[in-house]
Amino acid sequence: MAVGGGDSSGSSGEDPNPRLYATNPSPAAATDQPAEEGTENGVSSIETIAHKIQESLSLNKRHRFWETQPVGQFKDLGDSSLPEGPIEPPTLLSEVKKEPYNLPALYEWTTCDIDEDATAAEVYNLLTNNYVEDDENMFRFNYSKEFLRWALRPPGYFKSWHIGVRVKASKKLVGFITGVPARIRVRQDVVRMAEVNFLCVHKKLRSKRLAPVLIKEVTRRIHLEDIWQAAYTAGVVLPTPIATCQYWHRSLNPKKLIDVGFSRLGARMTMSRTIRLYKLPASPVTPGFRKMELRDIPAVTRLLREDLSRFVVAPDLDELDVEHWLLPREAVVDSFLVESPETHEITDFCSFYTLPSSILNNSNYSTLKAAYSYYNVATKTSLLQLMNDALTVAKQKEYDVFNALDVMENESFLKELKFGPGDGMLHYYLYNYRLRNGMKPSELGLVLL
Ligand SMILES: CC(C)(COP(=O)(O)OP(=O)(O)OC[C@H]1O[C@@H](n2cnc3c(N)ncnc32)[C@H](O)[C@@H]1OP(=O)(O)O)[C@@H](O)C(=O)NCCC(=O)NCCS
Repeated sequence: MAVGGGDSSGSSGEDPNPRLYATNPSPAAATDQPAEEGTENGVSSIETIAHKIQESLSLNKRHRFWETQPVGQFKDLGDSSLPEGPIEPPTLLSEVKKEPYNLPALYEWTTCDIDEDATAAEVYNLLTNNYVEDDENMFRFNYSKEFLRWALRPPGYFKSWHIGVRVKASKKLVGFITGVPARIRVRQDVVRMAEVNFLCVHKKLRSKRLAPVLIKEVTRRIHLEDIWQAAYTAGVVLPTPIATCQYWHRSLNPKKLIDVGFSRLGARMTMSRTIRLYKLPASPVTPGFRKMELRDIPAVTRLLREDLSRFVVAPDLDELDVEHWLLPREAVVDSFLVESPETHEITDFCSFYTLPSSILNNSNYSTLKAAYSYYNVATKTSLLQLMNDALTVAKQKEYDVFNALDVMENESFLKELKFGPGDGMLHYYLYNYRLRNGMKPSELGLVLL
């Protein structure tokens, strides 16, 4: 569950997709100017207040399901006597329930083999038609089959964690949830976790409390592998976020973004001025900037491990993880690095993944091509120049928009590179792990897909 976000403020004006937005008032209220002009003080401060009010209201909401789970509870917010770490100890594996949870009588469990073309197509169709939309239902995430295969099959993955719900009679797939294994470091401790994602219930079956059953079932299957913690993100406020982040959007194809209602033309802006505003160089400017290759895995792993060690929560990546998550895959993940022309040392790295959104109800365009900033490390090149090169290659590859969360050091380049704030928040959560205080987005070194 990533999030997309509409461009709320007076920024560059995007409003892509999705992942979250329960808290967002209006999405595509974007004007088309980067953040300096009219963001912090004008529209967006009102929206910030609106978010704060909505979030404080959501703190008073009852959570019939989440109140029963080992997660940080709202009532414990600010209670510094509670220890950090696992909320509940692991049980004996023999005590983990052997049978799946009960579903309503008309439905049955299925394990989805995403390798099989027919199953991949069913999952793809369920998500394409029912997964996350922005608040105004203008865009819906459209993860590709190849992306799903990549996201669901990292080193050591468990097929049993790719869980579907079918209608017994017709066998139609109507529910989905997944986990993949990951080592996530929280302060000094590297914890084996599941990253849970792609929770989806068919639109016709909403509000029937199927989601809690899916969540309990994936949790049970994770416990069966002797894993007791999980990380996940959502656009909605649940008990209790460890961090609340915001998506920012950088127009690459402003005309299309405006045409489809993702952005709006800024006040006193013409289309041609807007196009000029977002113009990028024809090719990257950093000498030695090139695509990552197989032979780069050791150097990239070293760079990333060193960089991620600065954050409170971050993945603990080894070379196998880097090969899987960061070696370029056409239309799924792109990675570039800087190899010093003199020393041939690998000094900098940047990456983004490809997550298009369907454009709903537009007669001219059906897809918004979005790149999402993934992991970036700058040691010799400035992060600003490195990310401008990333924007440049994304533009060369005909993406319409480049999205980035305000995690890690991203804030240092967002405004300057003409990103505008989106109108959705992405909340990060840990299951069965308590952090005493919430984190700032800049303390978070984790990007979930
Ligand atoms: C998210 C989704 C599966 C929830 O299903 P639903 O039919 O709306 O809700 P249900 O009646 O089954 O369950 C409600 C419970 O699920 C929880 N829930 C809703 N969305 C959730 C999410 N994204 N993550 C975790 N729990 C969630 C609710 O908080 C509620 O529990 P509570 O009473 O403790 O608060 C469904 O709305 C959906 O498929 N939405 C589109 C895709 C999407 O947003 N996926 C999540 C991406 S983060």
